[in-house]
Amino acid sequence: MSVKASATANTTFAELFGRAPDVRADAPGRVNLIGEHTDYTGGYVLPVAIPQRTRVELAPRIGPLVRAWSADMPEAELQEYRLGDEKPVHDWLDYVQGITEVLRQEGYTLRGFDLRIESDVPVGGGLSSSAALEVSLLRALREAFGLDLDDVQIALAGQKAENDFVGAPVGVMDQMASSLADEKTALFLDTRSLQYEKIPLPAEAELVVIDSGVSHRHSGGEYRIRREECERAAELLGVRQLRDLDPQDLWRLPSLPEPLDRRTRHVITENARVRSAVASLRERDLPRLGKLLYASHESLRNDFEVSIPEIDHLVELASEEPDVFGARITGGGFGGAIVAVARRGTGRKAGDHIAARYGQDGKKKATVLVPAT
Ligand code: GLA
Repeated sequence: MSVKASATANTTFAELFGRAPDVRADAPGRVNLIGEHTDYTGGYVLPVAIPQRTRVELAPRIGPLVRAWSADMPEAELQEYRLGDEKPVHDWLDYVQGITEVLRQEGYTLRGFDLRIESDVPVGGGLSSSAALEVSLLRALREAFGLDLDDVQIALAGQKAENDFVGAPVGVMDQMASSLADEKTALFLDTRSLQYEKIPLPAEAELVVIDSGVSHRHSGGEYRIRREECERAAELLGVRQLRDLDPQDLWRLPSLPEPLDRRTRHVITENARVRSAVASLRERDLPRLGKLLYASHESLRNDFEVSIPEIDHLVELASEEPDVFGARITGGGFGGAIVAVARRGTGRKAGDHIAARYGQDGKKKATVLVPAT
């Protein structure tokens, strides 16, 4: 169905569908402070919500038709499908279709709906734009159709949609963060038991998030390969998941073939770093937290091999800032963003300075996303 040729990012729900929405919901993107590529091995993560959010407006329809529109692609036509007839089309609609298919499989009763989506979480920035869409839509559907879903079930349904329908073999961190985290605390999550604790960010600290401008794709092969390598290493070492190993098991690495030894070393040391980072936050020891971030970056670059030169460059520039305690790649890797911890009140200046130096060659452009302007 075509939308008015004049549709822009500001076109309203009423202009699109001829009536007001019944429900509005939103959900944030996330930045992972530390604990990278540990969630699909049952390990620990420490994400924080970012100010950027995805917002959805929704009105139920009579019958099974779903009509959806995204303000990120304002010229595009309204997309349509019928509940029960979800088929991948390899764009953002697959997240919507994946959610309705998973809910149906889990026994929830839905009707069709009209949907308008709008987001300022950058796509491909390693900041969970897909989880923000999944969680905001699930929140809207919960309200519109009175679904009995708690926030953890929302996260799990989002992950299932992404794994089974979109085909991205992601762990549960992003959906748990989007569903449960806030901007003032770090969500210390055990991804196996799903137990979590919110650890306040010290008042002296400020997070800085800088997008490298190099986009990534998780359904891409490298993420899947890393996951398979971790599963193979666990099998060879005779444990259920790499999460079941700790630093006193590092002596066993030489028994593994290359590169499984380095992949395993990353996971073991990263899980230990998450626990140390939680202790550092509790003790408000920002220099120690900063060192853990740099060590995580080194491990992701050398052992897990998910960084790229542009991201290494941003981390190096961050390390030259006097008010930055530490920095690292954040998210799945192969592009995306860095996260840094700076002294409160200095984040904007440090971020702008790093971005300006990064863009000096005129070829690359970094964007400071946090602190938000
Ligand atoms: C992506 C995935 C997460 C997690 C990170 C890496 O963001 O969605 O599940 O695996 O990569 O830590």
